[in-house]
Amino acid sequence: MRSFSERSSLGRKLSGRFVAGMSVEDALHACEAVNREGIAVSLDSLGESVTTESQARASAQIYHELLDAIQARGLNANVSAKLTQMGMDFDPTLAERIMDEIVAHAAAADSFVRVDMEGSELTEATLVMVESINARARGRVGAVLQSYLYRTEADAERMLGQGIRIRLCKGAYKEGPAVAFPEKSDVDANYLKLAKRMIASPVFCGMATHDEAIVKEICRFVKDQGIAKSAFEFQMLYGIRRDLQRKLAAQGFGVRVYIPFGTEWYPYFMRRLAERPANVFFLAKNFFKS
Ligand code: FDA
Repeated sequence: MRSFSERSSLGRKLSGRFVAGMSVEDALHACEAVNREGIAVSLDSLGESVTTESQARASAQIYHELLDAIQARGLNANVSAKLTQMGMDFDPTLAERIMDEIVAHAAAADSFVRVDMEGSELTEATLVMVESINARARGRVGAVLQSYLYRTEADAERMLGQGIRIRLCKGAYKEGPAVAFPEKSDVDANYLKLAKRMIASPVFCGMATHDEAIVKEICRFVKDQGIAKSAFEFQMLYGIRRDLQRKLAAQGFGVRVYIPFGTEWYPYFMRRLAERPANVFFLAKNFFKS
């Protein structure tokens, strides 16, 4: 069912709301359009949990193509990748070697690699790998932290202490109360607390959220504290709150849009639906309309 839906035209139609297309060229076109609005991009070749070295190497090859294109076309973009896409589940040494090569390529192309954060069983291993790669390619690799995890406050201090750039998000995986705040209000409060800590730090961090109340409070905080708008950036997902993306860019804030693409869109798409059940109705309505 999953591989049918990933490649079928029905699947393409459904995923089109959140995914820029199936090919590298589709993603580059979307990137150029977003850049024209004065908004930066992070390109994500969708895929996760590969099970063989050849799949991991094929995933990496797409990132090398993206970095070449970013450099050749002068795009305002970096890349985001998942470690399980590079073999982390079955051979962490392979995943680290592959990521080292991608980060070295990004450094040569004057770009940057963001290592997406996956489920909590991978948090520690992911952070250790980011630290290790950053020691070899300082400032060219960054981490993602999720405000739903209890451990994140300590992880934030750990990353900031090493000058590692952080993307702060709420977290998109299903986690239990042993590791994550069960109440959304606690996740949101933790987000704001950590966002303020990161923005006031000397490390350039990304505030990844579409939560308008949080965005407003961040803008107020920055103004009150006299912090430069260039000290951080907002980050949002392709296809979500374009109005807010444009408004913040027009106000002079840095905004980066995360553009996912590729045939392996199914898990990403399902996480977006789970975040907002109204999306299911929205998609169904528009699907039957057209
Ligand atoms: P929240 O879920 O509270 O939503 C606030 C408002 O945003 C909603 O009321 C709605 O208006 C809008 N909104 C949010 N989600 C929507 C959706 N799916 N469709 C339509 N509208 C929506 N997670 C992770 O675990 N690891 C990672 O590496 C990343 N990376 C990442 C990068 C970037 C750039 C972003 C923006 C997000 C991520 N995430 C992520 C996902 C993140 O953890 C989180 O699940 C989503 O951003 C939704 O949370 P919000 O902060 O937007 O708030």
